[in-house]
Amino acid sequence: MTNNFLNNKKLLFDIWAGSYDWILPSVFYRAIHQRLLEYVDVPQPANILDLGCGTGRLLDRLAIKFPDLRGTGLDLSPNMLRMARLSNRHHPRLIYIEGKAESLPFGEGQFDAVFNTISFLHYLEPQQVMREVSRVLTPGGRFYLVDFTLIKEINLPKIPISPLGVRFYSPQQREALGSAAGMLCVNHHYLLGPVLLTIFEKGQ
Ligand SMILES: C[S@@+](CC[C@H](N)C(=O)[O-])C[C@H]1O[C@@H](n2cnc3c(N)ncnc32)[C@H](O)[C@@H]1O
Repeated sequence: MTNNFLNNKKLLFDIWAGSYDWILPSVFYRAIHQRLLEYVDVPQPANILDLGCGTGRLLDRLAIKFPDLRGTGLDLSPNMLRMARLSNRHHPRLIYIEGKAESLPFGEGQFDAVFNTISFLHYLEPQQVMREVSRVLTPGGRFYLVDFTLIKEINLPKIPISPLGVRFYSPQQREALGSAAGMLCVNHHYLLGPVLLTIFEKGQ
């Protein structure tokens, strides 16, 4: 079930990758990345992870804003990663690897910050992903989760716009997921319409 689910997602994003940076979606994602940057606070130099990095646009911005930063982009889709590598102006400071959010190929406490923009909605096992993020974060490290949210908790677990649907989480549901994984919510900020940034901090 999980493997079929991930294969379907991989296929969807592999197909989308070639046109992902075209004007319409690009404007939307770039606006979100730009607003997210206003809230980012990382130590310098920092080692960061962008989970579900897509074509690598967010990491590119982060590398420009923080010249000492080292970053890893991880994604399920080989085609998204191909696009990210093709436009990588910061190699070897930025690298891109294939993997899944549910089992991260990294040791414990490796990253000062983890980013996740418009990817969490796709996860079949959100609590497992939260545990993985917490595991790879250094104590005191931050998790920047950006995704569509629901203002109220309503029973709408799946929306059929991608294979097997997507899921949105209310601010309270996000807090509960983070807390169960050892990360406390620092704050929520609306970035663009219903797109909400939640900042978590891993306990010391
Ligand atoms: C809508 S794109 C967002 C890409 C990028 N974060 C951005 O802001 O432009 C969602 C990305 O999440 C990736 N993704 C979805 N499920 C994943 C999973 N379980 N593990 C790793 N990546 C995943 C997809 O391959 C896709 O590149």
